[in-house]
Amino acid sequence: MTNEHLTEECMDKSARRIGRMFDDISPTYDLLNRMLSMSIDVRWRERMIDEFAPSQGQEVLDIATGTGDMAVLACMRTGCSVVGVDLSRNMLGVAVDKWKRRFGSGSYPAIQGDALHLPLKDGSFDKAMVSFGIRNMTDIGGFLDEMRRVLRSQGRLAILEFSVPRYPLVRQVYLTYLTRILPFIGGLQSGNRTAYQYLSASIQRFPSPESMESLFQERGFKVIGSLPQTLGICHLYIIEKA
Ligand SMILES: C[S@@+](CC[C@H](N)C(=O)[O-])C[C@H]1O[C@@H](n2cnc3c(N)ncnc32)[C@H](O)[C@@H]1O
Repeated sequence: MTNEHLTEECMDKSARRIGRMFDDISPTYDLLNRMLSMSIDVRWRERMIDEFAPSQGQEVLDIATGTGDMAVLACMRTGCSVVGVDLSRNMLGVAVDKWKRRFGSGSYPAIQGDALHLPLKDGSFDKAMVSFGIRNMTDIGGFLDEMRRVLRSQGRLAILEFSVPRYPLVRQVYLTYLTRILPFIGGLQSGNRTAYQYLSASIQRFPSPESMESLFQERGFKVIGSLPQTLGICHLYIIEKA
């Protein structure tokens, strides 16, 4: 099945529908992430923190924080302080528990909310990051405007997102995995096949790195790094408020 076969309902990215979908799959989300990526996502996450390099004491916003993997990793590796935002209450619940297990004391400062309308003051963060979250947003340009608003001058935003490889053979193998294997395993483990069909389709429909780079410039960001990962199945962008 290709993404043209999916109904518009399946591709609905309204905040309500996305929040509910992640609420549903939150109990199996971490396990499936590791399984479906064969743990390669851990490498990508570490690379993001290394390239992004928040420093001790800097205030970092983790947009679409989900189950909090990036927030925990950033704090453990660099000593920065992180605030998380996510639409899904249940994903945040997993993040809060994970934070407690890793750090013992204190709680994860996380807000349930929409990345397109953040309840945060202008210029209040040094850096922001979003891993595997931007693909779910209805208005990427609007999201970038919101990031410009909450970041301080020369604040940086790191974006990690799936992409479709260019090389024909790799592309063909990857598309077969995306359209057949991923929805099957994801559906079986999570009990929500539609969520994994959506994942597959949203990756295929996501703008190319070139389109993303043009959009960043249009929205007032300088591209510091645009780095394909693992044969182009994932892409890391580091951009700076110009
Ligand atoms: C694929 S998960 C990624 C979670 C986490 N960042 C990670 O790397 O594992 C996508 C997350 O984005 C959240 N999300 C999607 N659209 C959002 C929006 N507009 N505002 C805030 N969170 C959003 C979802 O609720 C979900 O938890």
